[in-house]
Amino acid sequence: MAKYLITGAAGFIGSWLAHTLVEQGEQVRALDNFITGQRQNLVGILDRVDLREGDIRNQDEIGAACEGMDYVLHQAALPSVPRSVKDPEPSHTSNIDGTFNVLEAARQAGVKRVVYAASSSAYGNQPGFPRVETMVPQPLSPYAVQKLTGELYMQTYWRVYGLETVCLRYFNIFGPRQVPDSPYSGVMARFILQMLRGEQPTIFGDGEQGRDFTYIQSAVDANLQAVQAPAAQVAGQVFNIACGERHTLNETYDVLAKLLDFHQPAQYGPPRAGDVRDSLADISAARAAFGYDPKISFEEGLRRTVEWYRSQYTAANEGTGV
Ligand code: UD1
Repeated sequence: MAKYLITGAAGFIGSWLAHTLVEQGEQVRALDNFITGQRQNLVGILDRVDLREGDIRNQDEIGAACEGMDYVLHQAALPSVPRSVKDPEPSHTSNIDGTFNVLEAARQAGVKRVVYAASSSAYGNQPGFPRVETMVPQPLSPYAVQKLTGELYMQTYWRVYGLETVCLRYFNIFGPRQVPDSPYSGVMARFILQMLRGEQPTIFGDGEQGRDFTYIQSAVDANLQAVQAPAAQVAGQVFNIACGERHTLNETYDVLAKLLDFHQPAQYGPPRAGDVRDSLADISAARAAFGYDPKISFEEGLRRTVEWYRSQYTAANEGTGV
């Protein structure tokens, strides 16, 4: 039985990892500062994780959390491109300083491997699709710079200290438990909640921007595979984690509206500062290195996600849910 520290374990991706590892019988230490993470996300496994309220910005707290761990799945971050544009300092501190603290703590604790939640935003708006890891990054927003800086630190800790690190560049991960009601929520969760409430969603720009929307199960699988893969195939490397398909926002809106029996058209607003126009990944590197294979399609992912939010929303309205 291996010992895993999950940073950001009460968040969307972190909590999926926590549930999966606990169900597989692994030992999980769950660290979260509960700023964007929610205890509710760990219901069902709270008695089986070593839950610690702590912050990666605090060296002592992350230092203590890393002690005795085999693997660190570093998911803690202050996400959102627009949040970083509006107020760059808090995300800078969490995403760059926090990531540095995680690496230092992991190195000092003798952790075997760190897997890092990197971001597809690194690619920016350069020409050439699909995106391949060998492209030179062109970040467009503070968030993209922060996540990319984390990658560079990860790779440097491998080269300089021999700490095995793997960077997974997530492409717009969606699914149950993503926060739906913040102005900084991912578009999928936000649109689903708005449609359930009968509110008219706003598409920023013309809606023809494309995303490689990726169901959460694929991100979970990638993390577990990246932990198990031989170091020679993954250490110090960066991998796209995506579905490998591009869907426009207009198209996504229509699919969601159909699934939710929602009949209002979208309203359109100005494009968001720092927004990437298009996103589509080449996932062959992850396939070759650790057998990554996105099993849940875009459509099936949407169905599962809509069903989950519908059940939560119905339960909440009946006073039995969250
Ligand atoms: C970016 C990254 C993603 C990362 C995420 C973290 C890219 C291509 N993707 O996602 O990998 O996980 O940051 O925060 O850089 N939108 C609307 N209406 C809304 C909300 C959003 O039209 O109410 C639009 C946005 O303008 C954008 C698209 O939907 O064009 C997706 O937005 P969002 O879900 O916030 O994710 P990204 O910023 O693309």
